[in-house]
Amino acid sequence: MLKLVKGMRIVAATHNPGKVPEITALLGGHYEVVTAGSLNIPEPEETEGSFVGNALLKARHAADLSGEVALADDSGLSVAALDGAPGIFSARWAGPEKDFAFAMRRVEERLEEIRSDDRRAWFTSALAVAWPHGPAVVVEGQVHGLLTFPPRGDRGFGYDPIFIPEGQTQTFGQLDPAVKDSLSHRARALEKLKAALMD
Ligand code: IMP
Repeated sequence: MLKLVKGMRIVAATHNPGKVPEITALLGGHYEVVTAGSLNIPEPEETEGSFVGNALLKARHAADLSGEVALADDSGLSVAALDGAPGIFSARWAGPEKDFAFAMRRVEERLEEIRSDDRRAWFTSALAVAWPHGPAVVVEGQVHGLLTFPPRGDRGFGYDPIFIPEGQTQTFGQLDPAVKDSLSHRARALEKLKAALMD
């Protein structure tokens, strides 16, 4: 059976060294995490059409080129009235400047253009673990909620200030990070990953 053995090294398919402490903590501190960037592994083009597809593609690429077990994630916001957009293009909607105030306005403008008052949306997180030239496991977590405009709160990141998760009255940008962490798409994906691969 496929398992992650405590103490083993895991290659995180990212070039952002700042993500290492976050990923190490997510994995309960049981693994040594190094980034694909630190091993000079180039970032692949994200050519798949789904979160799961892109997470798998990134994990397989990092595992095959490093010869070690690799972990990758792909995530984003999907808006029901926009047929799931921005979805896998969530980061790209913020442009090269990574301007999420702009990206959130874009979502609002699109909803105005189609005169929709359907505010349903959800975040998705796909997490994939791949063995070099071998098998891979991928899981997906989601949190559903409603959009609100203008953005509220200065906590969190990305689209957090316009998203009110089900069962709450405040946006992810206002809520205590511990509350977000307890019900987020990422937390739900991670629970599934732990159940599948960790003892
Ligand atoms: P990725 O790095 O290609 O997976 O892009 C994910 C993008 O989705 C991020 O840049 C954020 O804009 C958005 N996103 C994913 N998760 C969250 C979240 O928890 N809060 C707010 N935005 C998120």
